[in-house]
This record gives sequence, C-alpha cells and structure tokens, in this order.
Amino acid sequence: MSINIALDGPSGAGKSTIAKKAAAKLQYVYVDTGAMYRSIACFILEKGVDLNDTEKVIAALPEISIKLAYTDGAQHVLLNGEDVSDKIRTPEISMGASKVSAVPEVREFLLDLQKNIAKENNIIMDGRDIGTVVLPNADVKIFLTATAEERANRRFKELQEKGDSSTYEEVLRDIEQRDYNDTHREIAPLKKAEDAVEIDSSDLTLDQSVDEVCRVIEETLKKKSADETKSAGEEKSKKSDRKPRKLAPVRPITKERKLGHFHMFWYTVLRVIVNALYHIYYDISFEGTENIPKDGGNIFASNHRSYQDPVFAALPTRVPMSFMAKEELFKQNKAFALLIKTFGAFPVTRGSGDTAVIDTSIEKLEKGRNLTIFPEGTRSKDGKVGKGKTGVALIAAIAQTKVVPVGINFKGSKLKFRSKVVVRFGKPIIPEEIGATSTDTKALKIIKNTIMEKITELVHD
Ligand code: DC
Repeated sequence: MSINIALDGPSGAGKSTIAKKAAAKLQYVYVDTGAMYRSIACFILEKGVDLNDTEKVIAALPEISIKLAYTDGAQHVLLNGEDVSDKIRTPEISMGASKVSAVPEVREFLLDLQKNIAKENNIIMDGRDIGTVVLPNADVKIFLTATAEERANRRFKELQEKGDSSTYEEVLRDIEQRDYNDTHREIAPLKKAEDAVEIDSSDLTLDQSVDEVCRVIEETLKKKSADETKSAGEEKSKKSDRKPRKLAPVRPITKERKLGHFHMFWYTVLRVIVNALYHIYYDISFEGTENIPKDGGNIFASNHRSYQDPVFAALPTRVPMSFMAKEELFKQNKAFALLIKTFGAFPVTRGSGDTAVIDTSIEKLEKGRNLTIFPEGTRSKDGKVGKGKTGVALIAAIAQTKVVPVGINFKGSKLKFRSKVVVRFGKPIIPEEIGATSTDTKALKIIKNTIMEKITELVHD
C-alpha cells in the first residue's frame, strides 16, 4: 500500500515549494493539484470562454486531457500533450484557477485522476481539499498556513524575480480575494481537516519549514506504525489468550430458563408428530434418555453424521432445541429456511470466527432453550469421531451450563429408508466438576477434551 501525505493550506503559504523539497528528501512523488486547476483555467482562457460562464466551462471539460509527467523528480503538467508547467503561473491564471475550482463538475473531473495517482505512489499531494475530500484516509495530514501579509510578501518577491510588474498591494489584494474564494465556495472549501497537524510558516525560513514538514511526516508515520503494531499485538493476544473469567458453579435452573406454556405446547405437538414419522421412516431407538435434564438451558454436544442429526438429538428432549446451521441454508429456499427456523436453527458464517454466534448461543440458553452443538464442525463420513473445536467449551464455560454428550450411530455413510439409528445420551458434564474453573485456554481444553471423550464413548455398535 502506498503512503499518502495530504498537504493543504491557503494560496502562497509555500506549499508547493515546501512539498517539492520534502518529497525529494523523503523520496516521495510530489503532486501539485493546484496545477491541474490552473491547467483547466489556462485552457478556458485560451479558448476565449468567459470563466464566469459555468455552463461553457463544463461543456469544455471533455476537450481537456491533463497528465502529470516527472523528469528528475520535477512535476510537469501536460495539457492536451503540451507542457504548460511554466505558463500556468501568471496572476491571471491564478485567479482563473480559483474560479474554475468552485465548479463542482471541474472538481469531479479531477478527483479520479488525483485519487488514482495517490493509489499507485507514495505521494505528498498539495491542494485545498486533499485531507478533507480527495484523501480523507491519508496517512499524514498537514495544514500549512502563514499570514496573508507574509504570503503576499513572498509571492511579490517571486513575481518580481520573474519580471512581473504587479505591486505588493495588488498581490496582497489578490491573495485575500483568493482566500475568500477558496474558503467560501460551496464545494470542498479550503478547511483544515480535523486530524491535520497545523504548521504556521510565517516566521520560518524555507529550510525550517521543510524540516518541520518532514519531522511531522516522519513522527506521525512512526507513531502510526507503533499503534498498528500495538493493536495487532492486542488483537493477537485477545485471540490466543482470552481473559480468563472466574467460573461460577453451574447455575441452578431458574424460572428464567423455562419457556412459556404456549410455546411448550406447540413444540410438544410438533415433536410427537415428527417422532411418529421418524419411527416410521427409520428404525430409530434412544438410549440413556434418563440423562436428559428435565429443564432447558443445556448444551447437547453430538457427533455429526447427517443433516438429520439436529432432529435425532431433539426428538426425546421435552424442551425445544436450537442449533447452528450454515448461513447458506437460510438463503436457498424460503420454505426450508422457515422450517429449520421453527426447529430452532440460527445461522452461522463458517470460517469467519463469528463471535456473534457465541452471543446468540448464550442468549438461546438463557431463554431456556437447549442448544445442540456439533463440535467437529463437519459431518463424519466414516462414522469416526473427529477432532472437536473449542467453541463448545467456551459457550459452556461462559453460560455455565451442563453439557450432555450425544452419540449418533448408524451404519454406512448415508441414511436410508429403515436405516437402524441409535441415539445415545451420556451423563451431563458439569465444567466445574471436571476441574475447569475459568475460561482460560487450559480450562477450555479440559472441557473440550472431556466432551469429545464422552461423545466417543457413546459411538459404538
Ligand atoms: O495551489 P495553487 O495556488 O496552485 O492553486 C490554484 C487554485 O486552485 C487555488 O485558487 C485553489 C484551487 N485549488 C483547489 O481548489 N483545490 C486544490 N486541491 C488545489 C487548488
């Protein structure tokens, strides 16, 4: 990624001279956006169009091509192929540029060109709206100012050296008029960006100003890179080493964890019907159902064999289950999405480290639903129990719930009509009882390993 420095400020503050020198020192490309507006004014004036006739100015834009070229680090502006770098420095063109730059279509015309140059190069870009509009995410923003008198003084000397006959008063009036135009125009007025560093060059020599600009750039970049390293470190340590929480004993089941009668009634009706259908379709049996807690708010951690698994685990439990399902399943078919939602499915984005899913899971448990989790993440084709992920342990530890291990068994890789299915429920695991008393990495590993062991014990012929 390229480094972008935005340098804004009023006319004559010395931006271009200072930016040119600072860019050479830091080996950045210097981009003078004022020269672009000047080139447009130059074209309009040469065409004989009145600069105040906005419609004609806009109509001329398709005839204009502006390109920047660099020889020995110096910027050259090419207007329709002609190098106009020197020609655009007259007071007439300065005033013209101030006028055309207030036309929104002109600014729009130059915006892409400016953004593209910044995308591809390490640049110091000078102008009026660089930090506020063109590069709002610039790495460093500097607002360079000086009093109007000091700026007029400098410009007057410059013009004299070029043999221009303008008086100091004329130059000052000119500067004040351009300041007024630039700060009062409706679109992208000259304004210090909130996060810009202001440098007043009134009492600084040219070399001092260049040094000050370079110092601000280097210090800001250094600080930025230190902040980024720090926050990357914090992010990493947040991930690898979650703040351990003290784990309270498993909460007694409270009324809060009970669902309403209405909800329970309809769920029971639905469960009885689905149970009957499943018994017709499969040769299904349940073992260890005495281990299923009577109330809700428990995790059921199961091995994963088929899409029917959430239903298999839910059929003998009186309390409605929730389960995580791939986000894609909610998008395929509206009726199917409604069906799985009715049975308690909620979406999870796989592989995204979706932390919202942990919050949703805990919410469901708090509301009194049970929650089925498949710690392996994906279905096992050969029936062997794979490695589990720690997410299940984290949810159990934070929500302080019991975890009921579930083993789903059938032969072959796919379920068929009248397949023999045995669903076994093990004794609930209580995190505190297995020595997991916090949510640190070690405790989570203990919980996860115990869950996986218990599931494996339930998977057999
Ligand atoms: O920086 P300069 O004097 O060469 O700029 C000429 C004019 O262009 C000036 O009056 C303001 C305008 N300008 C602008 O509106 N936005 C910029 N990014 C650069 C210059």
